[in-house]
Amino acid sequence: MKNFEYKNPVKIIFGKGTIPKVAEEIPQNSKVLMIFGGGSIKKNGVYDQVKDALKDFEWFEFGGIEANPHYETCMQAIELVRAKNIDFLLAVGGGSVLDATKFIAAGALYEGKDPWDFFTKRFLVEPKAAVPLGAVLTLPATGSEMNWTTVISRVSTQEKLAFGHPLVSPKFSVLDPECVFSLPDRQVANGVVDAFAHVLEQYLTYPVNAPLQDRFAEGILLTLIEEGPKVLANRTDYDSAANFMWSATMALNGLIALGVPTDWATHMIGHELTAFHGIDHARTLAIVFPGLMHVKRKNKKDKILQYGERIWGISDGTDDERIDKTIAKTVEFFESLGVPCTLPEYDVPAETIGKIKERFKQRKSKLGEKQDIDYNEVEAILENRL
Ligand code: NZQ
Ligand code: ZN
Repeated sequence: MKNFEYKNPVKIIFGKGTIPKVAEEIPQNSKVLMIFGGGSIKKNGVYDQVKDALKDFEWFEFGGIEANPHYETCMQAIELVRAKNIDFLLAVGGGSVLDATKFIAAGALYEGKDPWDFFTKRFLVEPKAAVPLGAVLTLPATGSEMNWTTVISRVSTQEKLAFGHPLVSPKFSVLDPECVFSLPDRQVANGVVDAFAHVLEQYLTYPVNAPLQDRFAEGILLTLIEEGPKVLANRTDYDSAANFMWSATMALNGLIALGVPTDWATHMIGHELTAFHGIDHARTLAIVFPGLMHVKRKNKKDKILQYGERIWGISDGTDDERIDKTIAKTVEFFESLGVPCTLPEYDVPAETIGKIKERFKQRKSKLGEKQDIDYNEVEAILENRL
């Protein structure tokens, strides 16, 4: 196992009826900005619950954060935060609203010209301060509620980029599984696939003798396989919703990455598919992951075999046959949730592969746990999905 340090400062408040607790978590006398998306919270009653909880605060609201949140919209919120001297941000929504709020938090206090620098000059330009934030999560998927990553899209340049910094960790996140009840099928399926892919990015690498992390990861995968379809079949099954929600949080709060190599190439390639074609984040992962497993079958052999055996019960055949069956099982699972796994099913033309290849070439990217996925392998991974 590799050395690691771990601190996750996010307080999780989990369970039915917990939304009113935001009032206890936001410092008294704060001037609060509630940030939300396209209106789902007004239909399912979450907006009213938060409004009630904020009754003793001076508060403002900013709605209209898009799925795959736009830099351009976040910049409007940054202006509002500065104009009103907001000193606490409350994100109420899915990963997009949470990510937007993280960017707004750091962007509002950025002294440079354009906070887009955090993304384009990642690791060189970092926030020195951020407005504190909390969250009410309405969609289990991204883990954004318990990590310090944000992913933002800039429409004018068709870019989708990420940065992370502890300063933008939520102070608290409220996870009420009843929020799942109003999710459309598509978002449930996306959430299961995204969380599943998060685990695979941190598990499907090479062995470092870390059996506890492996079993945590396998536990999350098995729980998603069991509970995901139950949530799809019966949206008001509270226990399944709760298990799904907690699995998604655990999949990307740093725990399963401790002391082990991590990949993230699928996410980096998937973000380009969203940038060019607006495909839902999780669906881009369902497209890319099978191609990545196919192309990196040598590097990842030991862990793909372990994954195939422990998750899908595949133990017969040559190594290559077992790997092929494991890839097929993974695709079958995503498809059973209603998530297609090839590029043509999303009307992505073959030319897009060239455009994505060129971006990785320009950026001189080396992706994957061994930093050996260059633009030629990105092309091979995507060509496998035609
Ligand atoms: O905008 P509203 O009206 O709220 O509707 C949303 C949106 O249309 C709707 N929704 C959310 N909660 C709902 C609901 N509808 C009914 N009932 C509810 N309870 O669902 C739609 C999708 O929401 P969104 O927030 O975009 O989905 P998700 O949580 O999957 O977030 C995706 C974003 O997170 C980023 C992705 O790249 C993408 O931009 N990611 C963030 C990560 C992180 N911060 O660590 C990691 C992930 O890998 C991912 O990259
Ligand atoms: Zn993801």
